[in-house]
Amino acid sequence: MKGQGIGFGKAILFNEHFVVYGIPSIVSAIGKYTVAKVEPYDEKELKLEDLREATPNYKEGKLGQQKDSLKRILKKMNIDVSKNGLKITLDGNLYCASGIGASAASCVAIARALSDYFNLNLSDDEINDIAYEGEMGYHGTPSGVDNTASTYGGLIWFQKGDTNVIERIPISNPIEIVIGNTGKVADTAAAVAGVRGRKEKNPEKYQEVFDRAENITYLAKQALQEGDYREVGKLMNENHKLLQQIEVSSKELDFLVSIARDQGALGAKLTGGGLGGNMIALTPGRDLQEEVATAIEKEGFQTVKTVVGASRGGIE
Ligand code: MEV
Repeated sequence: MKGQGIGFGKAILFNEHFVVYGIPSIVSAIGKYTVAKVEPYDEKELKLEDLREATPNYKEGKLGQQKDSLKRILKKMNIDVSKNGLKITLDGNLYCASGIGASAASCVAIARALSDYFNLNLSDDEINDIAYEGEMGYHGTPSGVDNTASTYGGLIWFQKGDTNVIERIPISNPIEIVIGNTGKVADTAAAVAGVRGRKEKNPEKYQEVFDRAENITYLAKQALQEGDYREVGKLMNENHKLLQQIEVSSKELDFLVSIARDQGALGAKLTGGGLGGNMIALTPGRDLQEEVATAIEKEGFQTVKTVVGASRGGIE
């Protein structure tokens, strides 16, 4: 059907927050995605129907940001809905929650659906640029890591700069992960602003933490390429510690991280903006993945079982 597009959810394996300051990060698309559908609409306006499943209060809490984001996307694409109205419907199997790339996935899906509807034939790079503009509606000054994973899929080395460095990290097989949802909606913009304020107050302490974060990404990239998942897991644990030091973890995130580790996950850390939202556990093999997910679910939390490192997020 004409006028459709998808955007992948994502999981950051290394260096959320640090990435905002130009430190390299490692991110992967996951096998869950948002679908956008564009249709003509009788009124001369944009009508949005959001059918995505979501953590309670997620959609309500982000309604204003979503409106701003849509406006930005339409402006960037030179689409005027005051002449010809449009209806956009959002759906798909990506459960909306903080930290899993729901906003980026929706921006990418919408940009792709509009490109398809208007026969614009936009390239992935153009879609990524539009989605970045859309992400600004959600969190002011995004690094671009989320929309990049959401657009291109796969496992990616991302570094923000005058020109962003975007490189695929080749690995032999996709790796099973568990994503655990604290059920708390978090505001990424507020989390990023908090780090900025504390960093300005404690420049020396933060510099040390940032230096270690940078170092960890290089080690993690090498370990991923060598298939040394024990080392990757250890580095994820260390990355979580650094994220705790910059105060973006939370009681619930630390709890889910400890359940995952106790159950044998090779590593676990918060993923995304933190202060609630989601954590990620590295669980190579279906059995370990199942055990870790079950342990988290037993405590009353939702999980997503998926993989990192699959091209196109693992969907075809
Ligand atoms: C959010 O998924 C990742 C952050 O690093 C913000 C960003 O990179 O824009 C917290």
